[in-house]
Amino acid sequence: MLKNKSLISPADFSIEQIEEVLELAEQIILNPGSYSDLCKGKLLASLFYEPSTRTKFSFDAAMERLGGSTVGFDDPMTSSMAKGETIADSARTVSQYADLIVVRHPKEGTARLMSQYAACPVINAGDGGHHHPTQTLTDLLTIRHYKGSFNGLTVGVCGDLMFGRTIHSLVTCLSRYAGVRFLFISPAELKMPAYVKQELDKKGIPYLETDDLELAMPKLSILYMSRVQRERFISEEEYLRLKDFFILTKLKMALAKSDMIVMHPLPRVNEIAVEVDDDPRAVYFEQVRLGMFVRMALILKLLGLDKFGA
Ligand code: NCD
Repeated sequence: MLKNKSLISPADFSIEQIEEVLELAEQIILNPGSYSDLCKGKLLASLFYEPSTRTKFSFDAAMERLGGSTVGFDDPMTSSMAKGETIADSARTVSQYADLIVVRHPKEGTARLMSQYAACPVINAGDGGHHHPTQTLTDLLTIRHYKGSFNGLTVGVCGDLMFGRTIHSLVTCLSRYAGVRFLFISPAELKMPAYVKQELDKKGIPYLETDDLELAMPKLSILYMSRVQRERFISEEEYLRLKDFFILTKLKMALAKSDMIVMHPLPRVNEIAVEVDDDPRAVYFEQVRLGMFVRMALILKLLGLDKFGA
């Protein structure tokens, strides 16, 4: 039962609850028309205190395709925050109008705080470098679509493992499935944070850390690329030094298995050469499409409207 729950970190949902959302997303993909007015009269508020294009579009598109409406902002300077309103007050106020709140904030923990004060469910659309659980649902649906299951996968995550919240969420979530192993591919300066590795250690999940993408390529079932998170760097010089550390090219793709898939939460900067886009193993644009369907499923579940579809 997911009605009225908030989703702040992937650990808030059990494996069975995640499965429920993915199942519903797959049903919606097969027959989107029969879900097109289930959210009639419902309002989603998206509060983006940090820039976003795709996640905000994805939520707005998901709600509109369910027949609901959206309000919100993607420039915090136009909101009452600019007048000094606290997050707790914003949560209390907005939930008087809306049935569901989606929040993105540069500070870790803000979405959790909001969920403690809001009178409706809250979805974390990214809190600083911490978590991004709906990207993880998107990633899981994509993996299931192409790989059938999560068990026994060798997952390479490459790029900015220190600040990449999509990576923190995906790795902690995938570590709940049997036989998954990880290759953490990053420059020494952008290694996976200790709190993620400690969780893997506790569960006995194997992982290796390397800065050699070529060496990792032949071993992988999935390569999850990510951009270097410029906005989280203190020094622009350090960002410029690290931003092109890995660039996935056709030549590197030739080292990979024929059924490996390349994923990316987007936006891409320079870490995947455009020449890779035509490779059938490059699934990052399909991943975007699946993200909208998984958000439709999540909205229906949290509002308790999932029983009325096809
Ligand atoms: C990601 C994010 O915001 O963390 N983008 C997204 O939601 N698709 C990844 C990123 O910005 O690099």
